Amino acid sequence: MQALRSCWHPVAFADAVSEQPYGAMLLDEPLALWRGTEGQVHAVSDLCIHRGTALSLGWTNGDQIVCPYHGWRYRSDGVCAAIPQLEDPTRVPSKARIASFRTAERFGLVWVALEEPRFDLPEAPELDRAGWVVVNAGPYRWDSDASRQLENFTDFGHFPWVHPGLLGDPERPVVPRHTVDTDGHVLHYSIVRPEAANTDDFPVFGNEQTDAPERRSTYQLHLPYTIVLRLGWGGEKGMLYFFASQPVSSSECIGYVVMGRNYDLDQPPDVLQSFEDTIFNQDKRIVESQRPEQVPFDLADELHLTFDAVAVAYRRAMRANGLAR
Ligand code: FES
Ligand SMILES: [Fe+2]
Repeated sequence: MQALRSCWHPVAFADAVSEQPYGAMLLDEPLALWRGTEGQVHAVSDLCIHRGTALSLGWTNGDQIVCPYHGWRYRSDGVCAAIPQLEDPTRVPSKARIASFRTAERFGLVWVALEEPRFDLPEAPELDRAGWVVVNAGPYRWDSDASRQLENFTDFGHFPWVHPGLLGDPERPVVPRHTVDTDGHVLHYSIVRPEAANTDDFPVFGNEQTDAPERRSTYQLHLPYTIVLRLGWGGEKGMLYFFASQPVSSSECIGYVVMGRNYDLDQPPDVLQSFEDTIFNQDKRIVESQRPEQVPFDLADELHLTFDAVAVAYRRAMRANGLAR
């Protein structure tokens, strides 16, 4: 989809990108990423114009990337700066250039937009706030379209079934009533739903009540594949989940989770990370089995009931914004 090219998408955790070239795939477009002299992230096409070698197998020299096959050097704007095989290596033909792409670094993630982005990145001020601690989880690479991974993250009905005792209570499977407000490319909705009691294995949530606790979840779903979710349990404790899925191709995606919270500040990060690893693993086999691999954006293709309000609003908004057919 052409329109998806003009959206920001995550392509890596920020700490994975260094002066060494880093290869990533976005909407079937191979990318080579690296950090330049000022620490800023550059992104160019990962295909050398000479013989189609992956530049990400090469090395970098400040703001230039060097092809490992014959040493052609490209600037961060994709223009080839030197061809070592020439008598005068700087007499580069104008055709010797590759595409370059805009990048952004936010929420500990590197973002790329293949075309001029039509929406701004979301806001998540808690992640920079004093008294909050941030933990990353993932990346979660799934054999599904990003739309399926996104939808699974916000699907209320499956919590007690796929994550019993962790995210839902199988004794209380009814999805509470909720409504969705769509404002341009952002869906807003909130829900107070039955929470599982915190388990001894993963004491990660902030509910003080241990018998039949309830979770207040306030969602912002930013089209196409990002969710900002705020959790509360009625007290001071708060948690923010930032989730974004990288559309690798129409049958592959990579999920990134960035969590902030203002409690249990000294808990080692691997408690939250192994909790998320467990949850995402439970979901993976279910979502990878779904057919078609991509969410069908025609409402007539599936059966939607009232508790599927978010799924319906997501399909409508994706179409209304020209991001799906
Ligand atoms: S293939 Fe890249 S320099 Fe020849
Ligand atoms: Fe799930």
